[in-house]
Amino acid sequence: MAIVKVINHPLIQHKLAILRNKKTSVKEFRELIGEISGLMCYEATRNLPTREVEVQTPVAMAKCRVLAGKKLAIVPILRAGLGMVDAMVDLIPSAKIGHIGLYRDPETHKPVEYYCKLPEDIENRQVFVVDPMLATGGSAVAAIDFLKARGCKHIIMMNIIGCPEGVKAVQEAHPDVDIYMAACDEKLNEHAYIIPGLGDAGDRIFGTK
Ligand code: PRP
Ligand code: URA
Repeated sequence: MAIVKVINHPLIQHKLAILRNKKTSVKEFRELIGEISGLMCYEATRNLPTREVEVQTPVAMAKCRVLAGKKLAIVPILRAGLGMVDAMVDLIPSAKIGHIGLYRDPETHKPVEYYCKLPEDIENRQVFVVDPMLATGGSAVAAIDFLKARGCKHIIMMNIIGCPEGVKAVQEAHPDVDIYMAACDEKLNEHAYIIPGLGDAGDRIFGTK
């Protein structure tokens, strides 16, 4: 059974409160997206396998653990997912990065693909799909469809704010994919925006409105 987890750590909740505030500047919004992503990364990587190694310290041998198993890849859904990448790469510097470009059609709210470039060996990697918002779930489902079509079998979804509709859509289409969120909000409004949410994540990260 896949994991669906809201990471309600006090530091994340505090930063999320500032992130949601419409008065928060673009600069601070961008910084907070990174900080929350880094904190979430800590939890979303909790179950990665490790193996024992021996390390010579200045005084003795120590039995230590290092990451084992599959190499990692981070795949942001453009545009807003880009805001989460740097903080993830700071913690997992060896990860490769793929990009999936999708935007929601303003009328139908369905995802439209405009870009997809993935590491050549993506099918052998543990993939973290990152996007601040999980609204109808259409973009997440489409991104995971692309990855599975390329042979990926180990996919974890990370969203800063989700909602029940988005979680249900991903679970129905991809019941094997774990979902980590910093908050799962109440519902969608008639424009498929998350309520209370934070507005348009892409516009707030890039200052386009
Ligand atoms: C936003 C967000 C997700 C998508 C979520 O992107 O970053 O990708 O909407 O909505 P959904 O769950 O209903 O698909 P948007 O389409 O606004 O594009 P942008 O990142 O380029 O602004
Ligand atoms: N995309 C956003 O950026 N915000 C929402 O609330 C829904 C989709």
